[in-house]
Amino acid sequence: MKILVLNGPNINLLGIREPDIYGKQTYNDLVEIIKVHAKEKNIDVEFYQSNHEGDLVDAIGNAFYNNVDGIVFNPAAYTHTSIAIADAVKSVNIPTVEVHISDVSKREPYRQISYIRDVAVHTITGKGIAGYNLAIDYLLEKVFNNGCDN
Ligand code: DQA
Repeated sequence: MKILVLNGPNINLLGIREPDIYGKQTYNDLVEIIKVHAKEKNIDVEFYQSNHEGDLVDAIGNAFYNNVDGIVFNPAAYTHTSIAIADAVKSVNIPTVEVHISDVSKREPYRQISYIRDVAVHTITGKGIAGYNLAIDYLLEKVFNNGCDN
């Protein structure tokens, strides 16, 4: 079982970026927390973060060729703008869980639009960094019916 954890723009700035909204943990902390969880669940996990829309589109396409089983995806600001990224998710047909660290439903009106929600199997929002591991668990339990190994 191989899961790609994909992050969009400014997620590399976690810890520095508006800590009252996104917390004090860094992107590296996020990666380490997910690695520990993935080990416990006995799954392979890959990470990719980019600030560029086309790179994210390419990463989603590459996930297909690399036999990725599921994607945990925080598209960040591209959530609210990118039809290209939504089309990529739809194209590869890899079950994708949309994650937002903050509770976007309680924020600015322009954050209420998500092009990804319609193409994702599930959305987790407002659970902080823990949302990524919840998304992995959702894929394992609800999509792959596999709570523990492989
Ligand atoms: C975010 C929410 C987005 O609106 C914002 O542009 C981000 C991060 C989140 O994780 O809460 O960059 O996706």
